[in-house]
Amino acid sequence: MSANTTTATPTPPFDLVLFGGTGDLAMRKLLPALYQAHRDGVLHPEGRIIAAARSELDTEGFRNMASERCREHIRAEFFQDAVWNEFLQRLVYLQVDARQSEHFRELAALLEPYPQRVRVFYLSTGPDLFAPICQHIAAANLVTSLARVAVEKPLGHDLASAKAINDLLAAVFPEPQIYRIDHYLGKETVQNLMALRFGNTFFEPLWQRGWVSHVQITVAEHIGVEGRGEFYDHTGALRDMVQNHLLQTLCIVAMEPPTSMDPDAVRNEKLKVLHALKPITAHEVSTLTVRGQYRAGASRGVPVPGYREEPGIPADSLTETFVALKAELNNWRWAGVPFYLRTGKRLQERVTEIVIYFRQVPVSIFPSAGGILPEPNRLVIRLQPEESVKLYMMAKEPGDGMRLKPVHLNLDFATTFKTRKVEAYERLLLDVLRGRPTLFLRRDELEAAWRWVEPILHAWADSGEPPKPYTAGSWGPAASSALISRDGFSWHEES
Ligand code: BG6
Repeated sequence: MSANTTTATPTPPFDLVLFGGTGDLAMRKLLPALYQAHRDGVLHPEGRIIAAARSELDTEGFRNMASERCREHIRAEFFQDAVWNEFLQRLVYLQVDARQSEHFRELAALLEPYPQRVRVFYLSTGPDLFAPICQHIAAANLVTSLARVAVEKPLGHDLASAKAINDLLAAVFPEPQIYRIDHYLGKETVQNLMALRFGNTFFEPLWQRGWVSHVQITVAEHIGVEGRGEFYDHTGALRDMVQNHLLQTLCIVAMEPPTSMDPDAVRNEKLKVLHALKPITAHEVSTLTVRGQYRAGASRGVPVPGYREEPGIPADSLTETFVALKAELNNWRWAGVPFYLRTGKRLQERVTEIVIYFRQVPVSIFPSAGGILPEPNRLVIRLQPEESVKLYMMAKEPGDGMRLKPVHLNLDFATTFKTRKVEAYERLLLDVLRGRPTLFLRRDELEAAWRWVEPILHAWADSGEPPKPYTAGSWGPAASSALISRDGFSWHEES
């Protein structure tokens, strides 16, 4: 069928119903990911993608729309007209207004001839439509034992709304059939972190409070709110990034070795990490968290407006576009080891990385260093823009004398592995189709994350203090550097 066939397990026959099928996520991520999977020959020949949305379109019109809008999101080297045309044959369009039951009868007519196929309902819509969609799916008797529902963030605005979403999903689908997506868990390097930790022995004895001084997790973006002003202003960086992507990443860094890659074995360990997070009280919030909002500045040399000048943002908005915080875990492995988390829009660079700082040597025996301790070892796991793992250590500078210099071991994935990198959404979609829930959040994890985040939101709201301004193109407010330097550390900011 296609070039570049991999040895990956093919999916079973499936009907994938994409609610919100004409939306941005579908066009930018989901359809391009499915195209790649098709091109690799891993989608079963009997696999349909049914786009369901409100637009008045027919299948032909939808296929044309997809051809226009998806192309720029597929790397040119992977785009082949013949393969794309073949892929288009899988696409079916159905006009669906989530509030109209007769539209679900039409969907049922499409699905019912194939009860033996895996059926995935992917809700790529606003959460306000989850309830009517689920109710209509149930009323039309579409939930078979092979049916699954996949849901995207935002999964709630706070703990109560997250619980309400979970309740309405639970009323229609058993928990094992619910796939809650956090696309960070689908990223190659997050997977690699598991391989690094649990496929090797030598990190494990060091991966604890005796050897690690602190951990930093940074997700810095240089983009602003990119036309999502209205959504973003009701959300803010803590809900948009920390509650999900950063806490999930922290879980993978901090969890105990699971007994297997079995979905519940992994999710039980992640849940324990979330439970071990020390609550940040209202009293501590001003010392342990920093929230910021960008002002006009320059992004990679180009002048950009401030957050409050962006379309759809009120001139007096108090929404944070930056968060830095110090988290701690109350457990034997990590007690006393700070985890500094930081994320923001319009920062100096786009970089996502996890940095494990090991403790310094206790004394320096090298006189030429003038009593200064050698730099501590650090393991830098970079997810973006490029994927790499670097281990920094001290070595002797060649020549006379005994001068030490930091050098690094570089695990360069791009040159070691020549195979195409699988994007997060492709991996996750294939896992939903194959029925592998390890990389998806269980209900209790989602709620535990909200339980930790919510008091911070309340304390910020109660304080009435505005977010600290920072210039677009900088590394965030000065208070962010102060947060970490108070403990004698500084943010890892290296290109
Ligand atoms: C999304 C957020 O979940 O993640 C966005 O809503 C953010 O605001 C994006 O830009 C970042 O994802 P990535 O994969 O580009 O790091």
